[in-house]
Amino acid sequence: DWTMGDYARSTVASLREKIGDGKVLLGLSGGVDSSVAAALLSRAVGGQLTCIFVDHGLMRKNEGDEVEEAFRGHDLNFVRVDARDRFLDKLAGVTDPERKRKIIGEEFIRVFEAEAKKLGRVDYLAQGTIYPDVIESGAGDAATIKSHHNVGGLPDYVDFKEIIEPLRLLFKDETRALGRELGLPGYLVDRQPFPGPGLAVRIVGEITREKVAVLQDADWIFREEIARAGLEKEVHQYFAVLTDMRSVGVMGDGRTYDYTVALRGVTTTDFMTADWARIPYEVLDLVSRRIVNEVRGINRIVYDITSKPPATIEWL
Ligand code: XMP
Repeated sequence: DWTMGDYARSTVASLREKIGDGKVLLGLSGGVDSSVAAALLSRAVGGQLTCIFVDHGLMRKNEGDEVEEAFRGHDLNFVRVDARDRFLDKLAGVTDPERKRKIIGEEFIRVFEAEAKKLGRVDYLAQGTIYPDVIESGAGDAATIKSHHNVGGLPDYVDFKEIIEPLRLLFKDETRALGRELGLPGYLVDRQPFPGPGLAVRIVGEITREKVAVLQDADWIFREEIARAGLEKEVHQYFAVLTDMRSVGVMGDGRTYDYTVALRGVTTTDFMTADWARIPYEVLDLVSRRIVNEVRGINRIVYDITSKPPATIEWL
């Protein structure tokens, strides 16, 4: 009888054999795939592994610290690069979605490259590519409608022998199961998908530090209430979007002219098509009240009721 435990053991054994005493470099994003790849490689070759986590300042609230907490102090070299200012400076004034993606993709490579160079010798570059990525990057519209920044050509910023993709044969649910087997915390393993360019593709129009903070707070409330309502597994992806639309409201005896937050929740099996999630009105009501009361600068909440297609899951 085949189990994930067996799979973990045999993969660890073959990784050990292949890598020998080589040095391995992995880019850790904090998403499920790269986290599981990190845990697997750490089990296989421990201190020969270095994981570089580029903090671009566009993560969800607390996410950077959660990633650090999960990996710091374990048997791998964890490097967190605080590149928040670099990214936000580069993004200043940029409104076009594909430009945002491109800037983030390029800046990411630059930061990663600079860190990688500090390591000296690198023998293997590891990636958390899973089976659906392999299929998706080969063909299909989803990959081209929005440029997915984590699927690209061969990186040339470090001199290495080979790319290692230990999850290449696994589907998402198998990747999660492997992560649990390897002892990763639930908040990492059960994480919903999060786009590489992060909150940059959830802020319509210009990105500023203030807007990032506002969106992080609104999104946090939404996630908290979804969890409280026990809907985390039922709704497959859910998040807040900060629109660039302002509208009039009243608060106390004053008039407000503030931004609108859109809530997005979808159910899907493969993220190629998706239906908008029928989140109960009471939950939406609570989220709406809390965001308007607790987050400065927001006076209106809307819920996105379009499916994919014709809309995409993300707004940008
Ligand atoms: P869309 O918006 O195209 O999203 O319906 C489909 C799924 O892909 C995620 N997504 C991304 N993931 N880099 C990523 O790694 C990206 O640039 C990107 N854009 C969208 C999205 O969150 C959804 O799960």
